[in-house]
Amino acid sequence: MLSEFWHPVCFSSDVAGPKPFPATLLDEELVLYRSGGRVVAAKDICIHRGVPLTFGWIDGDEVVCAYHGFRYGADGRCTRIPAQPGAVIPRKLCLHTVLAEEKYGVIWICLAQTPRQDLPDWPELDDKGLKRMKMPAGIWKCSAARHVENFNDLAHLSWVHAGTFGNRDLPEVRNYDVEVSPTGMHFEADYDRYSIEDFGRKGALEQIRYTYDVTFPFYTRLRLLFPDGRNFVAYNLPSPRSARETNVLFLLTRDFDLDESDESTIALQTRVLSEDKPFVEAQKPEELPLDLSEEFHIRADRFSTCYRKALVGLGLGGEIVA
Ligand code: FES
Ligand SMILES: [Fe+2]
Repeated sequence: MLSEFWHPVCFSSDVAGPKPFPATLLDEELVLYRSGGRVVAAKDICIHRGVPLTFGWIDGDEVVCAYHGFRYGADGRCTRIPAQPGAVIPRKLCLHTVLAEEKYGVIWICLAQTPRQDLPDWPELDDKGLKRMKMPAGIWKCSAARHVENFNDLAHLSWVHAGTFGNRDLPEVRNYDVEVSPTGMHFEADYDRYSIEDFGRKGALEQIRYTYDVTFPFYTRLRLLFPDGRNFVAYNLPSPRSARETNVLFLLTRDFDLDESDESTIALQTRVLSEDKPFVEAQKPEELPLDLSEEFHIRADRFSTCYRKALVGLGLGGEIVA
């Protein structure tokens, strides 16, 4: 069922240079390269003798297999068989390609022939007037759905993030509503947190409006609206490599400090994510339990209970396993 959705697998900038790019999505090993101005994504298997194309290299608009030198270009079509240079190459000599789209500086893949819904609608990511940053990708030993729930969990902020912005003196989560649509979810809540300058100390508190927009199955835009009207937005893209391994891609934008470097923001954000990681990787069971009777839920978990029901509604009965 998950294969029917678009999933991000890497940043656009990853598919460049002399080597084809390897990616894993839902246990499928893929090769990515550029040809004819488009990204080609295919199963990482040369159709001649089954060697991974990621052993090979890029030559212009083509990927070259390292075993016998077959070359593949636009749409995954074989363009040359060096051991038989005059041969006519039939059209069906083609890699097993999958759908690939490049948007927001990210490469999205759908393993099914017809995607079930569109890519997330985040047009502001193309707005040149914003400062845009990308975090280094990282593999987490967790399911993507557990990662989503952690990212959208209000009650953990005061506890897990007490070493940075979290405010353990104000752990109460005020009541909030969750809207569920056929393609995603939306909710908003206020959180009194320590300002960045006071990270890890008891300093100034600021009330921040957190607005979450989830695109099914795993992708979240979180907007932080500061009291003075500034906006900081995080895009959490946990890409499911397998049932228990997730490649976390993360983008950030802000509409202030446009000329300042990315470094301090990325360092702070890295620190915040490293506070989450040991918790999410340790959760048992690793798959998100979709049967609500399996874990205990409190009022603050409204997102989580709605999310689990929504995943069941999408057809993810039982546990998320490959
Ligand atoms: S296995 Fe790739 S060219 Fe033979
Ligand atoms: Fe967190």
